[in-house]
Amino acid sequence: MSTRSEPVRRAPQSRTQTGPGPAASDVATRAVAGFRSRYAGKPAGCWAAPGRVNLIGEHTDYNDGYVLPFALPLRTVVAAAPRGDEGWTVWSELADDPVEFGPSAVDEPGKVTGWAAYVAGVVWALRDAGHTVPGARLAIASDVPLGSGLSSSAALEAAVLTALADLGGLDLPAQKQPRLAQRAENAYVGAPTGIMDQSAAIRCRAGHALFLDCRDESVEHIPFDLDAAGLAVLVVDSRASHRHADGEYASRRAACERAAAALGVPALRDVPVAGLDAALGRLPDDETLRRVRHVVTENQRVLDTVELLRTGQVREIGPLLTASHVSMRDDFEITVPEIDTAVEAALGAGALGARMTGGGFGGCVLALVDADRADRVADTVRAAYAACGFTAPGTVTVLPAPGATRLT
Ligand code: GLA
Repeated sequence: MSTRSEPVRRAPQSRTQTGPGPAASDVATRAVAGFRSRYAGKPAGCWAAPGRVNLIGEHTDYNDGYVLPFALPLRTVVAAAPRGDEGWTVWSELADDPVEFGPSAVDEPGKVTGWAAYVAGVVWALRDAGHTVPGARLAIASDVPLGSGLSSSAALEAAVLTALADLGGLDLPAQKQPRLAQRAENAYVGAPTGIMDQSAAIRCRAGHALFLDCRDESVEHIPFDLDAAGLAVLVVDSRASHRHADGEYASRRAACERAAAALGVPALRDVPVAGLDAALGRLPDDETLRRVRHVVTENQRVLDTVELLRTGQVREIGPLLTASHVSMRDDFEITVPEIDTAVEAALGAGALGARMTGGGFGGCVLALVDADRADRVADTVRAAYAACGFTAPGTVTVLPAPGATRLT
C-alpha cells in the first residue's frame, strides 16, 4: 500500500534481473553519493531492504492466514550516520530537499507527512516500543518502483529500521522487526496493511519463498529453485494506477472482520476448508459469502503450494496460481481489466500459471513460465495490451533475493 505522492517510478521494460547484481550496487552508490553531497562526511554504513512479490496468499495476512512471498532483487538502500543529537534528517533521491524532524514530531503519529512519514513512523514505532533511537542523517535511494504493488513502502520501512537498529545497537531480533515496521505504516502513515510486506522485506532468504503463518509469525524458508526447474517468474507491471486502492483495501479488510464476527471465529483463518459450505450458509449475503470463500480457499492454496514446493514440484504449482487469480477476480473482486488481460495473455502464451500479486486494483502480475518462453510470454502480454489500447506494461524476470541486510 502506498499513500505517497511522489512521481511514480516504473519497473524497467523487459529486462532480466537475476539477483542483487549491478542494479543493487548502483542503488547503494546513489545512496552514498547522495549522503556525501547533502551532508558533510561519510555514512557510517549502508543498509538495504527489498521489494517483494507474493507467490500466493492474497488478502490472507490480516485474516491471520498464510502467505508465501519472496524478495525481489530490487532494493531500497539507506546510507546513514549518527547525527550526535536527538533529531533526524532524511534525504531521498526522489525529493528535492531533505526533511528534518525532532523528537516532538515522533511523540505521536501523523506529524510528519508525505514520503518522510514512513521514516518518522519507524522512529515513532521504535520509540513507542521503548527503544532509544539514535539521531541520524539518512540518504535514501531505491530501485523498487513506487505504486506498482511491489511494496516500496515496506522496503523503505525495513531499510530505515535496520539502519537505526544497527546504529543504535538496539536489541531487536529480526522476528520482532516486521511488527514495528507494520506499526509505522498502520499507525503513523495510516495505511491498514497486514504483516506480509514487512515480513518479506526483513525475513526473506535468497533462493527461497517465505512461508509465513501470520497468526504466530512463524516462518519456514521454502526452497524455490527456478533455475533447477528450468523455470522463470515473469513480473508484469500492469501500469494500472491504483484506483481507489486504499479505500477498497480497507473495505475488504472490514468485510472480512465482520464475516469472522458473524461466524463467531477470531479470524477467517479459523474457518477450515472442510467447513466452508456450512460457514457460507450462515453468512448474510452473497458478497460476504464470496469474500469469505476467497480467503478460506486462498489459505488452502498456500498450503497446497508449499506442499508441492517442499517436494520440488515447482511446475505443478501453476494451476494453484491461476486459481488464486480467478478467486481474486470473481470472489474478492480486486482485479482490474489491465491485470486480467495480462493474466489471460500470459496463460494463452503458455504460462504454467499466472496471477495478480499484491493488494489489487492495479500493481503487478506474476507468471510462472518455462525460462525459454519468458520473452514470448512477455511479447504476447505487450501485444494484448496494445490491442486493448492500454499503456505498455513493464516486464522483468526475477529470482528470489535476500531480505534486509547491512551492505557496508
Ligand atoms: C498489501 C498489504 C499486505 C497484504 C496484501 C494483500 O500488499 O500491504 O499486507 O494484505 O496487500 O495480500
